[in-house]
Amino acid sequence: MLLPLSLLLLTITHVSCWRPWPNTTTNLTSTDLQFGSSKKFEGSSNFVDLRYHMGPVMTTNITVHIIWYGKWVPTQKRIIREFINSISHDSAPHPSVSGWWKTVQLYTDQTGSNISRSVTLGSEKSDRFYSHGKTLTRLSVQSVIKSFITAKTKPLPINPKNGIYLLLTSADVYVQDFCQQVCGFHYFTFPSIVGYTLPYAWVGNSEKFCPGVCAYPFSVPDYIPGLKPMKAPNGDVGVEGMISVIAHEIAELASNPLVNAWYAGPDPIAPVEIADLCEGIYGTGGGGSYTGQMLEGRDGATFNINGIRRRFLVQWVWNHVVNYCTGPNALDQ
Ligand SMILES: *[C@@H]1O[C@H](CO)[C@@H](O)[C@H](O)[C@H]1NC(C)=O
Ligand SMILES: *[C@@H]1O[C@H](CO)[C@@H](O)[C@H](O)[C@H]1NC(C)=O
Ligand SMILES: *[C@@H]1O[C@H](CO)[C@@H](O)[C@H](O)[C@H]1NC(C)=O
Ligand SMILES: *[C@@H]1O[C@H](CO)[C@@H](O)[C@H](O)[C@H]1NC(C)=O
Repeated sequence: MLLPLSLLLLTITHVSCWRPWPNTTTNLTSTDLQFGSSKKFEGSSNFVDLRYHMGPVMTTNITVHIIWYGKWVPTQKRIIREFINSISHDSAPHPSVSGWWKTVQLYTDQTGSNISRSVTLGSEKSDRFYSHGKTLTRLSVQSVIKSFITAKTKPLPINPKNGIYLLLTSADVYVQDFCQQVCGFHYFTFPSIVGYTLPYAWVGNSEKFCPGVCAYPFSVPDYIPGLKPMKAPNGDVGVEGMISVIAHEIAELASNPLVNAWYAGPDPIAPVEIADLCEGIYGTGGGGSYTGQMLEGRDGATFNINGIRRRFLVQWVWNHVVNYCTGPNALDQ
């Protein structure tokens, strides 16, 4: 049965998120993408049963350690570092990256402590020669992390409580389920593999394999004929698609580092977390395949938040106080 598109989108999005995954059965048109623009949608729903499951959240200064896997050029690294450095930087003009993080700070642990406002860049390592090859599995991602925390020279610090280990793969590296089901994922390392339980995330540069999926809306998949991609504010489609995914994973790691704190749904194996609930929503009215109201610079670039020196486009995050997705560029703020 072919459902009317509007119904289909509502069905999918009131519990979850939207990305132009390749399994979408019908071709969308640019008119379809305007759906929802007149409504306050933003994922709001009484059906979202986001709950706290008593596990820890990251309440002390968060440090992000990066592993650059494969070939990265300095300009790409700079964009990503500046995004992370902007999270706790209050001086960027409104709407800011630190304003975006305020929604994440609303989550607390058993003692009522909020997620830390401080997120800083920690150590960085490079794996230029693809130590584990150009195809990684979820388990080999852990092996890569292990090799850097046990390195003979300058190993990454062991920081199970407030460290985030971020493995970023270059555009020529394929990771299990990339493009078909995920653009990134987070979990914690297994002591049997790594020796410690460390919260980590992987995010891949999709420029070569599936920019239309993982760098949407800076790139558009073939099955949405006639839709023009948005202009990326820093001129690198793959990396700027990664920024929103990195933001997504950091928000979820902070609120659910051991996958026993904040998530919705009955299933801890497939938890729906605070960023999953708002995937694809970047502004007021967003929902379904409509991104919501974003900002456009004089140069024609599309973004929704300001960092220290650069502009970024980052998805919103579920706000459990008001029960919908929120972000600093909301029109009604
Ligand atoms: C946490 O970070 C803030 C600012 O980023 C700093 O002032 C403070 O000293 C840090 N606290 C600890 C315990 O490192
Ligand atoms: C801490 O979380 C509570 C509950 O969500 C919220 O009311 C409060 O504003 C948060 N504090 C900060 C500093 O974000
Ligand atoms: C397509 O795949 C994504 C990710 O696995 C899933 O969330 C979504 O429900 C799927 N959509 C359809 C229409 O099957
Ligand atoms: C969807 O779009 C693709 C690429 O433009 C085209 O090859 C395909 O036939 C279209 N599918 C349908 C069902 O219209």
